[in-house]
Amino acid sequence: MLLPTLLPLLAWAVQNAMAIPAPTNSTAQLSARAPSGSKTVIIQMFEWNWNSIASECTNFIGPNGYGYVQVSPPQEHIQGSQWWTDYQPVSYILTSKRGNQDQFQSMVNACHAAGVNVIADTLFNHMAGVDSGTGSAGSSFTHYNYPGIYQNQDFHHCGLEPGDDIVNYSNRVEVQTCELVNLADLATDTDYVRGVLAGYGNKLLSLGVDGFRLDAAKHMPAGDIANILSRLSRRPYITQEVIWGSGEPIQPSEYVGNGDVQEFRYTTTVRDAFLGGGISGLHVVVSPLCVALV
Ligand SMILES: *[C@@H]1O[C@H](CO)[C@@H](O)[C@H](O)[C@H]1NC(C)=O
Ligand SMILES: *[C@@H]1O[C@H](CO)[C@@H](O)[C@H](O)[C@H]1NC(C)=O
Repeated sequence: MLLPTLLPLLAWAVQNAMAIPAPTNSTAQLSARAPSGSKTVIIQMFEWNWNSIASECTNFIGPNGYGYVQVSPPQEHIQGSQWWTDYQPVSYILTSKRGNQDQFQSMVNACHAAGVNVIADTLFNHMAGVDSGTGSAGSSFTHYNYPGIYQNQDFHHCGLEPGDDIVNYSNRVEVQTCELVNLADLATDTDYVRGVLAGYGNKLLSLGVDGFRLDAAKHMPAGDIANILSRLSRRPYITQEVIWGSGEPIQPSEYVGNGDVQEFRYTTTVRDAFLGGGISGLHVVVSPLCVALV
């Protein structure tokens, strides 16, 4: 099945976002999870290629005081011009639409020279969502077979829904072992898969990458992520995508032991305040998860 787009998921998440919980005094917790160093602002350069980000680090991002730049997933992905093709990995060769490994390395070096750390968007949860194809680096694959990397047994086949796709977000096991929009769900509970993912993480670290933004983190148990991170050669800055949903069993707070969690309710709370809700209510955004306010 072809993946149409992930945008409906985001729209769904926004619709389901509600007021954030009562504030707690979490200054100390926030400080512990914030990016280290004096410059903590992250700029996301979604879909920019490596050469463009390199010059942007030198000419704008560095001089303007940003601490981090978050870049698109660098690994081989399915072919296609749409943004979501970057989110369907095919291998861990660093050849993507955004450039090759040499260009990626040059970007990391240029950003570091400008005083900017680099966060790579990182996909530990899944591989491709299509039946077969050839990736951006020329690797052939089928849905559950990535030659030399993963085979059928390295994926979850949840058997809970038709097509094994996630439908019921009230079911923790389904959310974490079925497929997010048909994306082949890696068995992150196995030693082998954990080792391969840590190997990819270590490859990025060897190139000087400073942080990982873990895509679809909610679809992996926090303990699986913790195990993979424990195998890294050094500890990068970690920020995890865990979209909160009303009534769902999986909570963003489960993931704070691994690092930061991207708090989607922050955006809607600030938006609503300026769209008539009243900015006096903004004091509540000092929640344990709203690291953007540090
Ligand atoms: C909140 O936490 C900070 C840092 O630990 C502390 O200095 C402050 O007194 C606390 N405030 C309240 C109201 O507890
Ligand atoms: C969704 O999963 C929850 C938790 O397992 C269950 O109680 C509920 O009945 C399920 N809903 C449907 C429509 O299957």
